Amino acid sequence: MDRARKDLDACQELADIIELRLDLIEDFDLPALLKLAGKPCIVTNRCKMDGGQFSGPEEKRVDILRKAIDLGVDYIDIETSTPGPLLKSILENKGTAKAILSHHDFTRTPDDLNPLYDLMCQLPADVLKIITYATDINDNLMLFRLLARAKKDEKQLIAFCMGEKGEVSRILTVQQGGWLTFGSLETGKESAPGQIPARILKHIYRVNELKLESKVYGVIGDPVSKSMGYLIHNKAFQAAGLPHVYVPLLVQNVTRFFNAFEPYLGGLSVTMPHKEAIMKSMNRIDPAAERIGAVNTVVPDGNGWAGYNTDYSGALKALEPHGPLKDKNVLIIGAGGTAKAIGQGVVDQGAILTLTYNRNKEKAQALADQLQCKLISIRDVDQAAVDILINCSPSGMAPNVNDTPFPARLMKPGMVVFDSVYNPMETRLLKDAQSAGCTTVSGVELFVHQAAGQFELWTGQPAPVDLMRQVVEEKLSPQE
Ligand SMILES: NC(=O)c1ccc[n+]([C@@H]2O[C@H](COP(=O)([O-])OP(=O)(O)OC[C@H]3O[C@@H](n4cnc5c(N)ncnc54)[C@H](OP(=O)(O)O)[C@@H]3O)[C@@H](O)[C@H]2O)c1
Repeated sequence: MDRARKDLDACQELADIIELRLDLIEDFDLPALLKLAGKPCIVTNRCKMDGGQFSGPEEKRVDILRKAIDLGVDYIDIETSTPGPLLKSILENKGTAKAILSHHDFTRTPDDLNPLYDLMCQLPADVLKIITYATDINDNLMLFRLLARAKKDEKQLIAFCMGEKGEVSRILTVQQGGWLTFGSLETGKESAPGQIPARILKHIYRVNELKLESKVYGVIGDPVSKSMGYLIHNKAFQAAGLPHVYVPLLVQNVTRFFNAFEPYLGGLSVTMPHKEAIMKSMNRIDPAAERIGAVNTVVPDGNGWAGYNTDYSGALKALEPHGPLKDKNVLIIGAGGTAKAIGQGVVDQGAILTLTYNRNKEKAQALADQLQCKLISIRDVDQAAVDILINCSPSGMAPNVNDTPFPARLMKPGMVVFDSVYNPMETRLLKDAQSAGCTTVSGVELFVHQAAGQFELWTGQPAPVDLMRQVVEEKLSPQE
């Protein structure tokens, strides 16, 4: 009860309606909780089978809901799994309370939810709730279709998917006509898998403000849970007065996802491992992205889609304040995906590029052939002429913050040192470079400019770059 009191207090600025999960509160005092809530409440007493903690007899479980009805509660939640006679009796004797008839599937999303919905429609409930588990990102679309049907039928429906692959429907359900979405009070206080903190739903995804015309953007990748895109892009849309939303999309099969989700999308960011596979779904590919062989941004293009690479343009933007690249000696550490995009950028600007290989010479040689540049071993960097050094390897990234891919003794005043690693923001490489009097460019600049490039391609408006940088720096700053 002590914790419940504190939680109710914390709910006040976030929730429009509060669910009291009585099965999770020991020795609850319902009249006191209802008084403290001060907002419409849903009283729920979940049994184990539906993901709750109540373990007593069903009669006793439902009796607690009856008491809530007697106390004048706004809503009770009753599961379709409740034994028939108990379910019927509570639905027919709910007094002034409204009944939410709920169904949970914690393992999957069935191919056709219509038969279940039809059955539930036959019972005298006020709101239907159908929650399934997403084993594939496309499962969310089944729930969107059901929401469209409920809208036509003028039925109030709560519908979304649980699990990490279901986050998109938790965010978009209200936009798609759902009656509400659930948010946790904070990370670690989720009452179901994949629940998003209410503060993020409200202030970052702006779920209360989304309209059907709000365009949906997102990042596809695997994994996507660490991506900062949702913060930077949602804040940028908000600052620009745009009603759009940006969501994480945990995708395994890119083509299957894109074919199904396309009508819902305004554009996409694409991250590992899908930057090459997405190209097949594009009607047009920007020449720079074509040369690189990777797309990180998907933009509507007439009746189809175009692919761009803003790692390429973002890296050039980050280097722009430090003078022209033409005829400069650029040394890139690494020969992976980032080296490919940035290497292509500096070569296109007329720089003299040298790449390094570490363990995998064959792969690095293929990139050096593609970019028609020199390749040396990472152990021979002291022989390279360097005006601009760009780290495109993970060396120095947390937790290995004492690593550096380039010896400090080779750094000279006037050199530009650009680290694509942004975690930490100030890597050992950048600290060494500052001590040696070099000009430094942090990985935050690359991240911010590639995101700003995406924003500009999607909206046709200049990106709020300073705000985007502030969002990233705040997120990456060590927490006290
Ligand atoms: N700021 C941003 O927005 C942004 C965006 C993307 C990436 N990044 C950063 O860029 C880094 C590289 O990403 P990626 O996608 O290109 O990775 P990747 O494809 O895995 O390539 C990493 C490259 O670094 C080389 N390497 C690994 N450890 C090394 C070391 N200790 N010394 C020298 N070379 C080393 C690897 O060579 P071998 O395979 O031969 O070992 C490989 O060529 C990431 O770790 C990330 O921090 C930043």
